[in-house]
Amino acid sequence: MQTIEKLTVIKHPIVARDLTILRNQATNTADFRLAMGRIATILAYFALKDLPLRETNIQTPIQPAKGYEINTHIVIVPILRAGLSLVNPLINFIPDASVGHLGMYRDETTHEPVDYYSNLPESLDKAMVLLVDPMLATGGSADDAITFLKNKSATNIRFISLISAPEGLQRISKKHPDVSVITAAVDEKLNSDAFIVPGLGDAGDRYFGTT
Ligand code: PRP
Repeated sequence: MQTIEKLTVIKHPIVARDLTILRNQATNTADFRLAMGRIATILAYFALKDLPLRETNIQTPIQPAKGYEINTHIVIVPILRAGLSLVNPLINFIPDASVGHLGMYRDETTHEPVDYYSNLPESLDKAMVLLVDPMLATGGSADDAITFLKNKSATNIRFISLISAPEGLQRISKKHPDVSVITAAVDEKLNSDAFIVPGLGDAGDRYFGTT
């Protein structure tokens, strides 16, 4: 695979163990949700590792001290519906983040994304926008979502995915070279149904128990 700039692939023993739980078709909904929550926390940690800070002055019980506050507004945007699985771990770190929603599903025949809903906060131009979806397959949904966000004036976008296919990464890197991608795994390829191989199946169905 060609080198993708702005790509972070997280290596961590907990991620390796939890990816195995998520990939295993014998994993039930409860265990799938727990593993997704843990990995999402680690993805969030890495996605936020260079957050801008501003200094602040506080008073400890002992004396005045310097502290830090996050110096940017954060907007989390899940691509519905599977992206919802990554929202709460991010909110745990950034409780005052805004959450916008983009509804898209992939047409099963054409594999093209179909937009069905959007609800975003007013101003995205100064925000750090964290677009989240556990699966980056052809990249069609992420590409569409990023274009949509840019048309709403977003200039600082990070895409967080759990498992990415090389095809999707190439597409995002070519069409949106400014967007950083944080992922837990780059899998082998897509199959003829545009599912990630080996992947984990349909993340939305498995997370929401609709298989
Ligand atoms: C899945 C996944 C992504 C998209 C990835 O959603 O969650 O949104 O497909 O495929 P792409 O990179 O080829 O566009 P799905 O259509 O299964 O909808 P769901 O989240 O409602 O289950």
